[in-house]
Amino acid sequence: MRVGVIGAGTMGAGIAEVFARNEGFEVTLTDATLDLARSGSERIGRNQDRLVEKGKIDAEAAAATKARLSIGLVEDLAGADLVIEAIVESMAVKRPLFEQLDQMCGAGTVLATNTSSLSVTELARGLAHPVVGMHFFNPAPVMKLVEVIAGAATPPEVVAQVTELATRLGKTPVQVQEGAGFVVNRILIPLVNEGAELLAAGTASAEDIDTAMKLGANHPMGPLELGDLIGLDVVLAVMEVLQAETGDPKYRPAPLLRKYVRAGWLGRKTGRGFHTY
Ligand code: CAA
Ligand code: NAD
Repeated sequence: MRVGVIGAGTMGAGIAEVFARNEGFEVTLTDATLDLARSGSERIGRNQDRLVEKGKIDAEAAAATKARLSIGLVEDLAGADLVIEAIVESMAVKRPLFEQLDQMCGAGTVLATNTSSLSVTELARGLAHPVVGMHFFNPAPVMKLVEVIAGAATPPEVVAQVTELATRLGKTPVQVQEGAGFVVNRILIPLVNEGAELLAAGTASAEDIDTAMKLGANHPMGPLELGDLIGLDVVLAVMEVLQAETGDPKYRPAPLLRKYVRAGWLGRKTGRGFHTY
């Protein structure tokens, strides 16, 4: 199966890694430039090397993963069976990309989005190709869940096909009807936002907010370190979608979150967010 991934950032590289680790997939990782795609691919290579060093996989498996992976540009994906989009969380940026893919791709290509919150129905509007949500979680190689999201026009057989595919990748799929934030982000992203509100109010330090939720609620990460892992730009974008779609003020993005995004303090990917890396 030929799989194209668009966006070689936090999620795109992780998703490409998940596919490339499995037999039967040829994966092309793309970004706006070949250099960006290459840097995503190099990160996957380093992850594989680390797994070999830890004795989790053997050198042959790592080599096979690398051999299933190539880099390219969006234009190279016309013959793909499945294209997964993992670019910036903005309808204004994603929608023209789906229009381009619809023009460019062969009739058999399924178009998928890894969006955290945006409408699959809107991404698919007027397109000839089927569009489905295939929502992986961060870090994609580790997290077991895939939300398979049906928009208004997603054919049930495409939902079934992507559900089966997620299982083949060793993931556990859940089928979700479209709705802002789907299931996980509807619950999880407001938790990160609430952490930012507590920090802004001076209720506790960032370290203590995280420790409290790790030890008091058995969460693997505190809300602020989780926000830094996700990327504060993504957290803000999801809160804005939740607020706009529901009209409910309880989803107001924390002003501190907005301030950090404006400062370019996006979390781990920029070396600074609620914490410093
Ligand atoms: N890439 C690949 N593998 C990774 C990784 C990464 N970025 N980060 C950790 N791992 C692997 C490690 O190699 C390790 O593997 P082994 O057990 O085979 O050695 C394993 O994951 C555990 O890692 P660590 O021991 O270093 O650390 P940990 O036990 O603290 O686990 C964690 C790290 C898995 C990230 C854990 O802290 C966790 O589950 N955090 C919560 C993550 C979460 O909630 N993600 C969802 C975010 S929301 C989202 O994704 C949706 C959205 O649309 C925004
Ligand atoms: P990121 O900022 O780490 O990476 C985005 C990548 O897309 C960048 O490399 C950028 O150069 C590239 N890009 C932007 N516009 C492009 C275009 N027009 N064509 C080609 N490449 C383009 O972002 P991310 O965190 O990987 O998020 C990607 C998507 O996945 C978003 O929709 C996000 O909401 C979703 N998502 C994120 C997480 C997370 O925890 N970060 C989890 C699940 C889903």
